[in-house]
Amino acid sequence: MTASSARRPLPQAHGRFGRYGGRYVPETLIPALDEIGAAYARVRKDPVFQARLRDLLNTYVGRPTPLTFAASLSAQFKRRIYLKREDLCHTGAHKINNAIGQGLLAMTLGKKRIIAETGAGQHGVATATACALLGLKCHVYMGTEDMRRQSPNVFRMRLLGAEVIPVDSGTRTLKDAVNEALRDWVTNVASTHYILGSALGPHPYPTMVRDFQSVIGKEARRQVLLAEGRLPDLLVACVGGGSNSIGLFHPFLKDAKVRLLGVEAGGKGAELGEHAARFSGGSYGIFQGMASYVLQNADGQVVGTHSVSAGLDYASIGPEHAWLRDEKRAEYIRCSDQQALDGLHLLAEKEGIIPALESAHAVGALDQAAKRTRARGIIIVNISGRGDKDVAEVARLEGISL
Ligand SMILES: Cc1ncc(COP(=O)(O)O)c(C=O)c1O
Repeated sequence: MTASSARRPLPQAHGRFGRYGGRYVPETLIPALDEIGAAYARVRKDPVFQARLRDLLNTYVGRPTPLTFAASLSAQFKRRIYLKREDLCHTGAHKINNAIGQGLLAMTLGKKRIIAETGAGQHGVATATACALLGLKCHVYMGTEDMRRQSPNVFRMRLLGAEVIPVDSGTRTLKDAVNEALRDWVTNVASTHYILGSALGPHPYPTMVRDFQSVIGKEARRQVLLAEGRLPDLLVACVGGGSNSIGLFHPFLKDAKVRLLGVEAGGKGAELGEHAARFSGGSYGIFQGMASYVLQNADGQVVGTHSVSAGLDYASIGPEHAWLRDEKRAEYIRCSDQQALDGLHLLAEKEGIIPALESAHAVGALDQAAKRTRARGIIIVNISGRGDKDVAEVARLEGISL
């Protein structure tokens, strides 16, 4: 991070992180984004709102989540490896931190209908859960390819009283679900709040989602100081849209000695369409309300993506990550489908934890992470979710019939 940029408050005006971020949406949505921005600025400072959020995070979500010392992995990689256990959140992933926060915000706006998009289904389940708890109506858009590979989560959402709306356009994955959710929002903006599930989209979502997820990094910072008496050398997290990673990274941004490593989906190859590695395969562009890195062809058409994990299978990345990379404050690497599957087996067999396929990318990148730290250096890996939703898909991929 350069000295001048470190002093700049971020985001700047209009939600800009350098040349990234902003608001590229139809005019009809601008008043709603203004309304959300103003309400969010209010509730950030409102002790009653914050106390209610804290109470729900502690007594309903199960926070603080543990920071677990991973003894076997530490021995294998010759580093001191800790796991931040977002897999132990109610509903099985970090997504609930944001869904509860935005659900409470929707209530202050008087909006009784919620829409959401989902890829892996974890954000959909988290939103359906928050809506059940808070008495809000919930519609979740999901690509049909994601519905197939994450079918347990589709049923969970329905059990929670949400309506899951299949999206059969494009690659039938997350970007198509976001498109449909935005279309719904344009039509129903007066009655509806859109709970976007990652640190992306038009301002103020990247900032607001980051703040709701920063609880991960705040806790991890306290916990590692207690366990080790010093800050970690490296933080590792998978990056889909970027919410679990920015949630872990953000409270450490000013600690220049703490290195930040984001792991993108390397998929099955380096060609466009074979992965979701926006930084190595993408370029600057405008997509779904923001400026960021986008996987696109020479004509600026967004291309299809591939990842074994539905939650990382997205053509763009949150704008703050793009800025952190430009500033050389964070580094981004890729982990292939196979390395992620190996990571899942490793964590399951050595530590007794079956991670979500998304989180398995962070585990599968541990050898690359270890190379960036000295022997016995401290690494925190964010286990963003648990793998129950992926068990059937992993069996299918490995040719095992259940
Ligand atoms: C368990 C889990 N981890 C990570 C992600 C990726 O999202 P993000 O980059 O916003 O954390 C998802 C998305 O669905 C997820 O379900």
